[in-house]
Amino acid sequence: MDSIKEDNSYSYSIKKIYSPLPCSQNDLVDSMQTYFTLYKESIAHPELFWGNIAKEIDWFEPWTKVSDGQFPHCQWFCGGKLNAAYNCLDRHLSGNRKNKTALLWEGEFGERLSYTYQELSQEVARYANVLRRHGVNFSDTVIIFMPLIPQAIITMLACARIGAIHSVVFAGFSAKSLLERIVDSGAKVIVSADGGFRRGKIIPLKERVDEALKHTTQIQKVLLFKRTGAPTGWCHGRDYWMEEEASLVENTCEPVSLDSEHPLFILYTSGTTGKPKGVVHSTGGYLVQTAFSSKIVFDLQEDDLYWCTADIGWITGHSYVVYGLLANGASVFIYEGAPDFPSYDRFWQLIEKYKITIFYTSPTAIRSFIKWGPQWIEKHDLSSLRLLGSVGEPINPDVFLWFYKNIGKEKCPIVDTWWQTETGSILISPLPKVTPMKPGSATFPLFGIEPEVVDEKGEPMPAGKNGLLVIKKPWPSMLRGIYRDEESFKKIYFSRIPGVYFTGDGAYKDEEGYFWIIGRIDDVINVSGHRIGSAELESALISHPAVAEAAVIGVPDSEKGEALIAFVTLKEGWTSSLDLENALKEHVVKEIGSIARPKEIRFIDALPKTRSGKIVRRLLKEISREGHISGDVTTLEDSQCLDKLIKG
Ligand code: WTA
Repeated sequence: MDSIKEDNSYSYSIKKIYSPLPCSQNDLVDSMQTYFTLYKESIAHPELFWGNIAKEIDWFEPWTKVSDGQFPHCQWFCGGKLNAAYNCLDRHLSGNRKNKTALLWEGEFGERLSYTYQELSQEVARYANVLRRHGVNFSDTVIIFMPLIPQAIITMLACARIGAIHSVVFAGFSAKSLLERIVDSGAKVIVSADGGFRRGKIIPLKERVDEALKHTTQIQKVLLFKRTGAPTGWCHGRDYWMEEEASLVENTCEPVSLDSEHPLFILYTSGTTGKPKGVVHSTGGYLVQTAFSSKIVFDLQEDDLYWCTADIGWITGHSYVVYGLLANGASVFIYEGAPDFPSYDRFWQLIEKYKITIFYTSPTAIRSFIKWGPQWIEKHDLSSLRLLGSVGEPINPDVFLWFYKNIGKEKCPIVDTWWQTETGSILISPLPKVTPMKPGSATFPLFGIEPEVVDEKGEPMPAGKNGLLVIKKPWPSMLRGIYRDEESFKKIYFSRIPGVYFTGDGAYKDEEGYFWIIGRIDDVINVSGHRIGSAELESALISHPAVAEAAVIGVPDSEKGEALIAFVTLKEGWTSSLDLENALKEHVVKEIGSIARPKEIRFIDALPKTRSGKIVRRLLKEISREGHISGDVTTLEDSQCLDKLIKG
């Protein structure tokens, strides 16, 4: 467990904030006492608890057993049959929600699109028919590589409707990253767009698709939406315009009845190996838990307009833009662009214009708002907001308080939600109006979830002491595996501490049982709330002809949470220079995508290694953060390289 402080006494001086909103008589949980009582019951009788929660989802055939199996292989709602798109659409069409806004979108240039539940359902049916026409069958994987436009969400639901498995690739990824995911997923069809807009510039998505497809013959069809109108290359017989195809098909399509365990999607995420892992999620368990957590964490009311700023390329976009919210019949707002374009008040304009009531974003975004200054916020009326949320990284107490005061005007509770791509749903979070907030703490587990902070042997740590965050019992929306990689699945999550799920995060519990998440303790770096593996970055650097060896670490950054520093040794014949530094940064962007651009490249003579040849990133972190080393260096092959580094 490197770079974790032992003692956390400072957190006790943080004052609790009691919810500014009173509970109403209809609230399921109206006090902490009720929370603790219900929580205990949910842990004592998980089958009863989850069985009741699952009744809020529409099943074509009921399950016969709530759960089966133990870590690592668990099944939920066994024997049950359902369809996620049916639950997100059709079931809302028989009542008042038929004409309710399901999706409201604004583009960077102020364009607007809105869909009622009925309209969305017809669009989903049309795209589902197009997918089928182009050979997508039950259980086939479809890659979605799209900007944040409604059609991306419609395509996800269209896949779910016919039992195809979607794998959304974030539009910021390079052609090479896209190719890697295409190959691993075995997809034969890609749905993409001619491009997207970001800060007024075109993101050339189709160019990247074409580039990736030069290296594989696996993809048979590319279905494209028109977003930018920019000219694109065209491969006849392979490329089709989605809208043209959609005009040829019906706007009805029967939802396929799927087994509860049928995979709903694969989402690639960075891990400790050099290769991204395809995290596989189920249909039944995932939908039950994302719908339930959306309802209780966001305290959803019928007239809310909810905005989560995450892109659908990440798990937050899957669970808390699409599935959890639409399953509840909520109105969801999405915005295509960046918060600072064309001006720093873009988000506040949108909140004021549409009267958004729930705003869920990341600490990185909040830190940018702080940097840009209060004048951008003061111009706007944010009084429609009633609830704020944060996700993706630890939120520093001062950032939390700034958010609470400047955006929430001290009248909105903040839900600091802890979870992961692998967990599928939020597992630790306050319940708004109920849980007293402690700025910086994700507070308490949601019902049915048993987290613990333990040492390497799995023994619970005393209050205030840092340890490893684990989840002791299976939960419905947990990952079902890593696609085609059973060994990594077992090794990463279930081997370090036997019998539990290991999250990869460090944490501690305070004396009142509040959970405080410290951050990753493995070689995963969290930049602006996005996970990037050291190993992936290092293999990108090593693929440049100048680089002999590389080690990448994350160092604290006031804006991005963590920034990437790469230590590089050069091959014979190359010398360090500013030009080479810039070339290496560009190379990483080309290999992985712009989220992976290192902040700094440091050229060194040798990397600190153990005698068995393993790079010791922990020491590089310590030098970068503290300027010296306090730990043991006797196991190093060559400790002189460290002296040079410290002096440098
Ligand atoms: C971090 C994002 C502190 C954590 C949903 C986790 C957080 C990783 C929080 C997962 C939070 C997420 N407080 N840290 N509220 N939420 N994290 O898979 O390190 O992109 O392991 O899922 O983000 O990132 P992922």
